[in-house]
Amino acid sequence: MWRNLILAAGLFACLIPADMFAQEYQKTITVEVFLPEGARLFIEGQETKSKGLIRRFESPPLPPGNYTYTIEAIIPGPNGPRTVARRIDVRPGDFESIDLREPGKRPITDVEYEPTPQKVVDALLRLAKVTSTDVVWDLGCGDGRIPVTAAKEYACKACGFDIDPERVKDSLANVRKHGVERLVTIEKRDVFTLDLSKEPTIVTLYLLPRLNAKLLPQLRKLRPGARVISVAHRMADVKPDEQTVVDTERGQFNVYLWKAETLRGH
Ligand SMILES: C[S@@+](CC[C@H](N)C(=O)[O-])C[C@H]1O[C@@H](n2cnc3c(N)ncnc32)[C@H](O)[C@@H]1O
Repeated sequence: MWRNLILAAGLFACLIPADMFAQEYQKTITVEVFLPEGARLFIEGQETKSKGLIRRFESPPLPPGNYTYTIEAIIPGPNGPRTVARRIDVRPGDFESIDLREPGKRPITDVEYEPTPQKVVDALLRLAKVTSTDVVWDLGCGDGRIPVTAAKEYACKACGFDIDPERVKDSLANVRKHGVERLVTIEKRDVFTLDLSKEPTIVTLYLLPRLNAKLLPQLRKLRPGARVISVAHRMADVKPDEQTVVDTERGQFNVYLWKAETLRGH
């Protein structure tokens, strides 16, 4: 209970004195809530003063452990206000994103399509030290260039997942164009529903910082020895094990690598 109080207090006003948090309390919890127009938002029963369609809260640094709390919104509507509520289970270092908009009013993708330049694709696969026994999963695969290149260059199995049917079509066409149907699978899936614990040995991402952080609980379940590569964006406050910079016509791209063991340790 006292943990919830600390978190709730931190989310609203950061009232906790700085000297209460020694070195060991270094991680915060970030919560992002998507709401319809005019909604009132409550955390642990207390109304927040925040405004807007996306509200973001950060706790003060917290002691390690599991924290549960309730997010509620009162949403105006033609038939009167309705209440929606979610309970979330989080740990310090997590980024939790909650969408309280009606399903039909949400955009289908969490991030717009933008392909990774081919030079960066080649560099990230080199950084991951892909071999023919690896299984590469690209979460949000766009036109499928990462799985297609992995299969063509390293003869490994690869899978691309995208939530947008148009991108799935593009990826399937790309797979056929390069004749890698035997090695590459493309699936229409929301990446936040994937079980990463069994198959992939390499996971590639070109998403957004908040989406990387939201994926952390799934990425922590990767098999020992697996690697995660992210184009352009970091992974919450987890220090990468390796990184490189690639010069392209679109400017410089940072590429980060984390070992599964490193992610599990955070
Ligand atoms: C910036 S693009 C990266 C494409 C590709 N990975 C690359 O590096 O060229 C991000 C892709 O993620 C897809 N996407 C966004 N939200 C998603 C979600 N929740 N589940 C699956 N795919 C998603 C988008 O449709 C888009 O194709």
